[in-house]
Amino acid sequence: MAKILVTGGLGFIGSHTVVELVNSGYEPIIVDDLSNSDPKIIDQLAKIIGYKPPFYKLDLCDEQGVKELAVKEPDIAGIIHFAAFKAVGESVQQPIKYYRNNFYSLLNVLNAFDGRPVNFVFSSSCTVYGQPDKLPVTESAPVKAAESPYGNTKQIAEEILTDMQKAGSSYKVISLRYFNPVGAHSSGLIGELPIGVPQNLVPFITQTAIGKREKITVFGNDYNTPDGSCIRDYIHVVDLAKAHVAALKLMETETFKGYDVFNIGTGQGSSVLQVIHAFEQSTGQKLNYQIGPRRDGDVEQVWGDVSKSKNILKWQTELNLDVMMQSAWEWEKYIAQNPL
Ligand code: UD1
Repeated sequence: MAKILVTGGLGFIGSHTVVELVNSGYEPIIVDDLSNSDPKIIDQLAKIIGYKPPFYKLDLCDEQGVKELAVKEPDIAGIIHFAAFKAVGESVQQPIKYYRNNFYSLLNVLNAFDGRPVNFVFSSSCTVYGQPDKLPVTESAPVKAAESPYGNTKQIAEEILTDMQKAGSSYKVISLRYFNPVGAHSSGLIGELPIGVPQNLVPFITQTAIGKREKITVFGNDYNTPDGSCIRDYIHVVDLAKAHVAALKLMETETFKGYDVFNIGTGQGSSVLQVIHAFEQSTGQKLNYQIGPRRDGDVEQVWGDVSKSKNILKWQTELNLDVMMQSAWEWEKYIAQNPL
């Protein structure tokens, strides 16, 4: 069984990917510093996969610690690098914190395993496109000046990986540009665990429905979209997790060389109001929502052209918006009754 190091493996996307790796016969090894995750997620994972996956508690900014990890794990076949800070607003307030964490961790990992034939998957984001000129946006669309330090870390990380390839690195690399991951595992045992007040739409919806928040505000209904609210390409986190397995499989082929990048979305946009209505309809919960002002830095609309992923990665989504909403709601109810 090929060993795959999953950095940030106890986080929202990381934990779901651990499950899909096991389902596909890989042996995930988790590294996480618990800065934005809960150690009890390991027990939750064990309930799903049948055993406790190996886990290193390590801050990847600790260069020596990462080097020691590379010595302890001499036969890693792949690395999926999730570990990063991701709150857009916070990155604007604390840029050094973001640049330091997101770059030191990436560089320390790349450096520690350099020279080995490792398949490397990088968590990138549709944020690299800003507001695209053409929709759906393709991978060849120009990368726009980043709106936030967070977005900038994704753009520069992609450049680092590209430069590394040009220099003839021992790594094969795929960057996955995620659209908006939502939902939770069908077992109801893992999901998103926002710390404090959620910034993202779907956790805010489910926390409002369960009564943790009084109401949800739709950030603007005067955009140039059919119902006036912003449009995003929401993707079920389990579909997203499977894209990482597809990326590993592609890099395992002889024909794959060097570096490539893929959009990971459904290829369809949904507005904020459509998401709210889908939640209400698919769960039977009434949501207390109001229309508020626009949020600074939001792009009006973005959704992905996913034909490259379909054709080359041989991957596409299977789960629709209703399943995303129902599973997010099941998880919110589970966590309300079984706090970790
Ligand atoms: C942003 C980033 C994305 C990043 C993600 C991580 C951009 C363009 N996108 O996603 O790259 O991975 O954060 O956190 O920088 N909304 C409301 N009310 C709310 C919350 C959100 O109306 O209470 C709206 C937003 O205005 C937006 C949509 O819901 O239109 C989705 O927002 P959110 O879930 O925060 O994700 P993005 O901002 O798209």
